[in-house]
Amino acid sequence: MQDYTVTLNTAVAIAREAGALLMDGFGRTISFETKSSAVDFVTEYDKSAEKLITKRLTSAFPAHNLVGEEGASKNGDSDYCWYIDPLDGTNNFAHGLPVFCVSLALYKNNQPQIGIIYQPVLDECFTAITGQGAYLERGGKRTRLAVSTTASLTQSLIATGFPYDHQTSAHNNVAQLGAMLRQVQGIRRAGSAALDLAYVAAGRHDGYWEFKLHSWDVAAGVLLVQEAGGLVTHVDGTPYQIAPRLALIASNKRIHDAIQTTLATVAIPDS
Ligand code: IPD
Ligand code: CA
Ligand code: CA
Repeated sequence: MQDYTVTLNTAVAIAREAGALLMDGFGRTISFETKSSAVDFVTEYDKSAEKLITKRLTSAFPAHNLVGEEGASKNGDSDYCWYIDPLDGTNNFAHGLPVFCVSLALYKNNQPQIGIIYQPVLDECFTAITGQGAYLERGGKRTRLAVSTTASLTQSLIATGFPYDHQTSAHNNVAQLGAMLRQVQGIRRAGSAALDLAYVAAGRHDGYWEFKLHSWDVAAGVLLVQEAGGLVTHVDGTPYQIAPRLALIASNKRIHDAIQTTLATVAIPDS
């Protein structure tokens, strides 16, 4: 088995540095531009954090490929690829809501090797190496993560999110939300897919689903969930495989079928 310790430590330092950059901007009046829709925007901090991460990763791992939300891209011969979400939870960040993170993942031949999710407001750093478990480092203490043991939807706290075309598309997760709400203890919409997954790994959420995700939203969080004993599949139940666009269910395993069955009661419109 490959020893990823040095790679992980290097990437954690980069994620922490990017987190500090975000904290410099957090709470200030910030400028932003819209992207795919009127509610999808990018701030100067998304861009500067991605620049910093890309610069540091390229210098530490010059051969590795990169895919970043704000345009970072390198597609050479390497088997390795970093997936970068420099600021997951941009809407929260821009509104001064302290729920956002940096998400970094390393894949080898499309298989997750390392996942890092750093929440700078709480100084919570979630990490995983394939085959070696998932951990949370907070206040100098490192604890191993395990998914919850909740066995029924009625007792479950489930997370989800809505796509940036929610104002215009019929496929905006509202019907699924209605179906799920009738089955569960509670639903949360934190505004950060990466944190939603980290919280499934930590047993804070029992499950999570979302449509129209991007690779960088979930690349790290999926490994955290898997290494904490959970399960991640596409919404049709097939095993997780990284792709540019994704619709996923993540859970503590026990309630996975129930989430899938509940979502399947709702027909998904084409657009
Ligand atoms: C978004 C967040 C949100 C999810 C969206 C993502 P961003 O990422 O993760 O929770 O619902 O699908 O695009 O734009 O804040 O990096
Ligand atoms: Ca994101
Ligand atoms: Ca982002």
